[in-house]
Amino acid sequence: MAGAGLVLTAPLRSGPARAAAPKELRLAAEPARAQLAGADHPPTIVWAYDGSIPGPTLRLRQGEPVRFLVENRLDQDTTVHWHGIRLPNAMDGVPGLTQPPIRPGESFLYEFTPPDAGTFWYHPHANSLEQLGRGLAGALIVEEREPAPVDRDVLWVLADWRIDEQGQIAAGFGNMMEAGMSGRVGNTVTLNGTIPADQPVRAGERIRLRLLNSSLARIMSLRFEGHDPLIIARDGQPCDPHQLEDGRLLLGPAMRVDLLLDMQGESGRRYRITDDFYQGLGYELSRFAYSDEPPLRTKTPEPIRLPPNPLPEPDLAAAERRELTLEGGMMSRMMGSGMMSGGMMQGGGMMHGMGGMSGMGQAVWSINGTSMTGDGHAGMAPLFNLARGKSHLVTIRNRTAWWHPIHLHGFSFRVLARNGAAVPHNQWADTVLLAPEDTVEIAFVADSPGDWMLHCHVTDHQTAGLMTVLRVA
Ligand code: C2O
Ligand code: CU
Ligand code: CU
Repeated sequence: MAGAGLVLTAPLRSGPARAAAPKELRLAAEPARAQLAGADHPPTIVWAYDGSIPGPTLRLRQGEPVRFLVENRLDQDTTVHWHGIRLPNAMDGVPGLTQPPIRPGESFLYEFTPPDAGTFWYHPHANSLEQLGRGLAGALIVEEREPAPVDRDVLWVLADWRIDEQGQIAAGFGNMMEAGMSGRVGNTVTLNGTIPADQPVRAGERIRLRLLNSSLARIMSLRFEGHDPLIIARDGQPCDPHQLEDGRLLLGPAMRVDLLLDMQGESGRRYRITDDFYQGLGYELSRFAYSDEPPLRTKTPEPIRLPPNPLPEPDLAAAERRELTLEGGMMSRMMGSGMMSGGMMQGGGMMHGMGGMSGMGQAVWSINGTSMTGDGHAGMAPLFNLARGKSHLVTIRNRTAWWHPIHLHGFSFRVLARNGAAVPHNQWADTVLLAPEDTVEIAFVADSPGDWMLHCHVTDHQTAGLMTVLRVA
């Protein structure tokens, strides 16, 4: 469980606390062991924040400054990226772009004030495939000034692992064939770092369920048997409470959703939570296990609405327009699934003829004809220069046969439209999931200067070219 966060409250300095002194916390990236594969397996050697899988749940308060001294106890460079937090560019954790890498044995002091309350997370931005794939990730919760009126606030950090027969994390990060398809989807899904067991609930209680998909590549499509959850926030940003579309919750890598769950099941019963995203590979994620207690309440209260965050509202009439076109990968999913089941590749194959390339590693994807690979590199010119303080409307076109959760650093954007239809419920996000051939329109105010990454959060796609930089100046 992620309870180890309490350790972090130890101050770095002694002496009397100053009234407005930032809270000072420590975080170490280090090798550790975790019981991921079940009790009958040996412990798995992982890389973890403060030795815990997932990393400690960091709880901050909206509008209160914080400092994190991050120590690198790995034998390779690392950084920490505070995914979804709007912060100064120099604190964004991208090595070679916003800061020098943190060398082994060294530390870096991150300092920021989270402006928005909500569910966020943190992870490295160096050697991302392997560092995230070996376990470096944790949730970051920024608490509202007034806690939301629910009976329980529950966090599920969902993570996908590829575990081998020895119970260890399988080697072979950065397989180019996988990178051109769905990415490194594993064989073991954990919930808060363990194989999910029954989740005890009580009839009539109201739960805020915070979901984070911290997987490298696994997209989830969650169904909640016998329940009707309401989405009350996406990527930390409140939206109008609304039901799941088609009864399923699509959650791509890096995406978070806060659900409002009124537990309307029957005492003593179990209800399945399943994921059926990959055809033929459905599984039961977990179960709500109702206690025998009588219902906590019999009448379901009105849905709650989280207080809005201070996001700048884009001026759509005046917005500057840009387009991002995603291309590459295996040219059809048919071919991809044939490959995955060991079939022969017939014709076609990877797309070739990528435009400008930068960084290490091969490019199999591109954005507007250019491919930034590996960890990204400062040497590549930004794809766009965005005028600071202006509103920007970006159309993202997925001209590939694959799904992509596209993430923008530094900003939360309004999700305006999908395939020509307006997106309802006032939805903001920092990561938007595009199905094959989807076109999505987003808008945001470029109020924060700097070089900001934009990339697919299927990590193999990111490191194989589905990544670029937008400059705000
Ligand atoms: Cu979760 Cu570049 O980010
Ligand atoms: Cu990010
Ligand atoms: Cu992708």
